[in-house]
Amino acid sequence: MHIVVGITGGIAAYKAPELVRLLKKAGHEVRCAATEHALEFVTRVTLETVSGAPLYSDLFASGRTEHISLKDWGEMLVVAPATANIIGKVASGIADDALSTLLLAFSGKPVIMAPAMNCEMWAHPAVQRNIETLKGWGIRMVGPESGELACGVNGMGRMSEPETIAAAVLSTLHSPLSTPHSPLSAQKWLVTAGPTYERIDSVRFIGNYSSGKMGFALAEALANAGAEVELVTGPTHLNVTHQRINIRRVESAREMYAAATEVFPKCNGAILSAAVADYRPSECADHKLKKNGSEGMHLNLVQNPDILATLGDMKTPAQTLVGFALETDNEEANAQRKLEKKNLDYIVLNSLRDKGAGFGVDTNKVTIIGRDGSHKESPLLSKQEVAHLIINTVTS
Ligand code: CTP
Repeated sequence: MHIVVGITGGIAAYKAPELVRLLKKAGHEVRCAATEHALEFVTRVTLETVSGAPLYSDLFASGRTEHISLKDWGEMLVVAPATANIIGKVASGIADDALSTLLLAFSGKPVIMAPAMNCEMWAHPAVQRNIETLKGWGIRMVGPESGELACGVNGMGRMSEPETIAAAVLSTLHSPLSTPHSPLSAQKWLVTAGPTYERIDSVRFIGNYSSGKMGFALAEALANAGAEVELVTGPTHLNVTHQRINIRRVESAREMYAAATEVFPKCNGAILSAAVADYRPSECADHKLKKNGSEGMHLNLVQNPDILATLGDMKTPAQTLVGFALETDNEEANAQRKLEKKNLDYIVLNSLRDKGAGFGVDTNKVTIIGRDGSHKESPLLSKQEVAHLIINTVTS
């Protein structure tokens, strides 16, 4: 495989030659691209010697268009260390030097970044926002880790060790995620995401812990693959930046039902990842309910419409319908039953037994079960990676 290692100007740049050495030892061809500041920390001679190839660092050297030839040559780009500066540039679409230009040109192929910076810089909301943006585009982050930093303090911001970064590179190269997914241009997909809130009175509701992260990752992955996306989401603080995603914010299951059933007939497919409340209070008081001195309180609940089952009834043979199932026991049998009962093409099973999977966390581990009996089990992956795996499976 052809791997480009990008190096930016942080003290951890001194570890980049070791990463290059490990990747070469694993049998890959490596070329390096460095920023001007990186060369304050690690020399051109070192990088050219360990990689065995000329270093790319000057955008204007003899009028070359090296960023174009390198992006064609490279099958993967790994930036280690990735400073707050390069992360911010890519998130903002800035290309003002050799590496940032290469990063923007390197589309449709896997990119990994190993951030490294001071702990306060790492915690800055601008950096965190940029990291989320890049993750949303499918860029995989390795680290940073907590430990002693170059500035003498202990905290989050240390670059992961070269061995850890090399392992992430190799696992991505060998994963089905590294193959670019089929282009979905000219297709429209519906995604539901997040929780629903069911009002009790003017200040209270019944809700759940769903963050919306899985649904937003699915919407981003579909949009990155070229599809127009109608994202119907319950209450969440998440935002989308992709211009092909049309977001509709709703609150209750009934509002989500109305939005989803309206757009589904215009869609090629739908992925319903929302954690919809099965029940709602039969009445919603228009004022704040008072205690009235009573010991207990009884809420009468009535069933909400099942959006997924309704879309299953509406579905034409040309449409693809994907549901989620969160199960605690008899996982596979229950998921299979749901798939048949709701007329789905695929069901994505989340098991609550898996650590790191489910609500609120950034990772997930799923089994994708197809109507044709196919089973695809994922390892523990970021929600972005799980989204790519789901999209690749249900659209191939
Ligand atoms: N779902 C939906 N509308 C509902 C309830 C669920 O669209 N009113 C969708 C979810 O978005 C998810 C799937 O149905 O894709 C699974 O929901 P789940 O609550 O696990 O399944 P239920 O059919 O409600 O079955 P049970 O509660 O018995 O597990």
